[in-house]
Amino acid sequence: MGEQKLTIEHLNKNFEVDGKSVNILNDINLNINEGEFVAIVGHSGCGKSTLLKIIAGLLDYEEGSVILDNKKITKPDIDRGMVFQEHRLFPWLTIKENLAIGLDQLDKKEKEEIISDHLKLVDLEDFGNVYPHQLSGGMSQRAAIARALVNAPKVLLLDEPFGALDALTKITLQDEILKIWEKEKTTMIMVTHDIEEAVYLADRIVVMSARPGRIKEIVNVNLGRSRDRGSVDFARIKKRILVHFFEDKSLTLEYNI
Ligand SMILES: Nc1ncnc2c1ncn2[C@@H]1O[C@H](COP(=O)(O)OP(=O)(O)O)[C@@H](O)[C@H]1O
Ligand SMILES: [Mg+2]
Repeated sequence: MGEQKLTIEHLNKNFEVDGKSVNILNDINLNINEGEFVAIVGHSGCGKSTLLKIIAGLLDYEEGSVILDNKKITKPDIDRGMVFQEHRLFPWLTIKENLAIGLDQLDKKEKEEIISDHLKLVDLEDFGNVYPHQLSGGMSQRAAIARALVNAPKVLLLDEPFGALDALTKITLQDEILKIWEKEKTTMIMVTHDIEEAVYLADRIVVMSARPGRIKEIVNVNLGRSRDRGSVDFARIKKRILVHFFEDKSLTLEYNI
């Protein structure tokens, strides 16, 4: 694991709701290392997307600091890419043209090379000239991931990127994102409501509580790679996360965790 990349200290974020200021993120402290894969889980509305948008530079905040490579984040930049639950590709552009956005500064040959490399990276090399509506949900998400990666961001922010996909497509995409992560060494921060997905992918899992959003626990996933979803160790970590979301504490008694 590399150097510390992202440092979030005493972050507080409020939103104006009905004319009143409501605290959404409360004293968030989180350090993420270069090349790390971090998942964030928590109930709907606890502020996960808000946190990602702050890291993306799309939202400001009241207190604290969010620092990437020793620089305070104040606006979006190409050092951070973002992927959402829906692909957000431009429907009137081909997949290649979608990837070309943001590569304007390059000459034609360089641009074509980068686009072709990234289509290969997500197994879409034969689909560069088609339009988004001609792709399946999983393929569209792969195109969205490729588009987020063409500028070689240091950090990829993923907001429930596989949340709308069917279970089997999701499993395939999880393996693809791992392959990309291993190849590109991009720091990944993924919000997900799928706890199994978090355990399968992440080095660490940030568990958040709701209203206001706080970090309850950061769980290290000490499973190595090529993880077995059916193993007892896998289940143990899954359960350790799950107990945060249930009132019934008897859940913790079954296994020693
Ligand atoms: N632009 C906004 N203005 C006011 N409230 C917002 C805004 N965006 C999000 N919120 C509120 O902030 C809370 C956290 O939202 P969000 O970060 O989207 O949650 P999550 O992604 O964890 O489901 C929610 O209560 C939501 O209604
Ligand atoms: Mg969200």
